[in-house]
Amino acid sequence: EKGGYKHFMLKEIYEQPRAIRDTLMGKHDDGEILLSDIHLSDGDLAAVERIQLVACGTSWHAAMIGKYYIEKYAAIPVEVDIASEYRYRPKIINPTTLVVPVSQSGETADTLAALKDAKQLGAKVICICNVVDSSIARESHGVLYTNAGPEIGVASTKAFTTQLAALYLLALFLGQKCGHLKAKDIKRKFKAIEALPEQMEQVLSDEPRYTEFARNFHNHQDFLFLGRSYNFPIALEGALKLKEISYIHAEGYAAGEMKHGPIALIDKEMPVVVVATASEVYEKTISNIEEVMARNGLVIAITNPDNQLSGAVENFVVPEVDEELSPLVNAIPMQFLAYHIADYKGCDVDQPRNLAKSVTVE
Ligand code: M6R
Repeated sequence: EKGGYKHFMLKEIYEQPRAIRDTLMGKHDDGEILLSDIHLSDGDLAAVERIQLVACGTSWHAAMIGKYYIEKYAAIPVEVDIASEYRYRPKIINPTTLVVPVSQSGETADTLAALKDAKQLGAKVICICNVVDSSIARESHGVLYTNAGPEIGVASTKAFTTQLAALYLLALFLGQKCGHLKAKDIKRKFKAIEALPEQMEQVLSDEPRYTEFARNFHNHQDFLFLGRSYNFPIALEGALKLKEISYIHAEGYAAGEMKHGPIALIDKEMPVVVVATASEVYEKTISNIEEVMARNGLVIAITNPDNQLSGAVENFVVPEVDEELSPLVNAIPMQFLAYHIADYKGCDVDQPRNLAKSVTVE
């Protein structure tokens, strides 16, 4: 059932191009985004004034990127919260609030409870979910399924990238309903996301380099992951993947926050994984990298073919794509780094200690 792969996680990493195609299937026709299971009228959608995204773990990282998408394309203010935090605070909710729980399993206790509270307060709820007919899917007014197929490895991989694709679709959909995006914009943006599976294949074909990297880096005790803007949550995700399957301590930070504390950690032992792909904040990221290099930190860069960094100990090259879509491509190096280090160390990749695939306890 692992299809010849050593672990489910590896199989699921390789399934991502197919999974993204399935998430996109049937969602676009001639400049219009079609989300038939949303079950909200145009009137309901026009009334939305605020959006609240709520999730845990990797799904929370996807939601953070979803906020950037929705604010950019639909200009609706979005808040993102960890379900276990959101639950125990007073909620500002009324019928103009749209609540969007994001969950692979659809069974995460805190996310489900947050959803129920919000519904009771009168919010409309649309979930982004992978498991059909799961509790979260059933409790929501509408649903946008990610269609990633069953995810067995505890570490989320294809569920994450398909959540990003779904959030991108939701943002385009809302952008169109609110009149911010025209049919021609939708066509162009849908074409860009449709091209991603092929670009993801290119990253997948680079896997042997990560095996070699693991041989050289598995002994380090701590890693720092940095990124900005759409790729800040990718830094958080890279750190989470490494922690959960290889048991190496890692922290993810917004690169611009480094000077407010974590820079004190940097020395010649410290691997710093930086997302430095094309972006409006590329120059800013480069100056953060220079700060790391000036302190002899070991820079491991995720870069595009024309922008490799000469001072980095490793450049993992990925194809250049639209900045907004770059997290879907940049997630793969993060997955490979964690996977190969964990595998090299002989860790139980698919069933890391102390973790369960779906967290049904509060
Ligand atoms: O099923 P969910 O998406 O609601 O699960 C949320 C988290 O438990 C999950 O993403 C967890 O953080 C993963 N193990 C991360 O790889």
